Amino acid sequence: DGLLIVAIDGPSGTGKSSVSKAVATALGIGYLDTGAMYRALTWWCVDRGIDLHDRSAVAREAQTFPLAMGTDPAAPTVQVGDRDIAAAIRTPSVSAAVSDVATNLGVREQLIRRQRELMARVAAETGGVVAEGRDITTVVAPDATVRILMTASEEARIARRAGELASTAAATRAQVVDRDRRDSAVASFMTAADGVVTVDTSHLDFDGSVKAVLAVVDEGR
Ligand code: C5P
Repeated sequence: DGLLIVAIDGPSGTGKSSVSKAVATALGIGYLDTGAMYRALTWWCVDRGIDLHDRSAVAREAQTFPLAMGTDPAAPTVQVGDRDIAAAIRTPSVSAAVSDVATNLGVREQLIRRQRELMARVAAETGGVVAEGRDITTVVAPDATVRILMTASEEARIARRAGELASTAAATRAQVVDRDRRDSAVASFMTAADGVVTVDTSHLDFDGSVKAVLAVVDEGR
């Protein structure tokens, strides 16, 4: 059908989100941050006083909560109802709680369904989509045109996150490593699946990472 579907997975701190946005902008196609959807559901449940360990209650919210994802890579947005929660979903408390929500298999079923619908709609509108997360190359879109695993050494990932959070390397190490370990229980993103191209950004800056991903896309399209 000629649509360009680019799936990008990887652990936290690889620069996945900023690189994916720049790649989508360069290609003139849409962008979907699937991690923001798990974060949005976490925020929503906490806001409503729903116990995150009540798996069926959280899965029910995943099916019905009024999430709207803006997929323009130059200005992606996250809203529930008419509330802009783009900033609220990046707080340390949401980051600490999101794995509890993301390891709920009923939640994953609902959010994966929403992700596939969104990707199809955006791709039909713009000619393609860059979707990034933990299970895009393996579960959400295993038939994507191009599948990439972005990696970076643990040292590089911790250093980048520490910069973003303005926290110490030691505190950040615990957060990054713990979250990846918890997330690994339900998605395999530390090693590349068959047919998935690894882009190691340990020694690349932002521009270098964007170029490396665009080169893989060129090769694979
Ligand atoms: O990418 P980001 O760090 O914003 O993702 C937040 C969380 O959402 C991850 O820690 C993980 O628990 C969950 N996630 C997921 N599957 C995806 C994307 C994110 O489980 N495809």
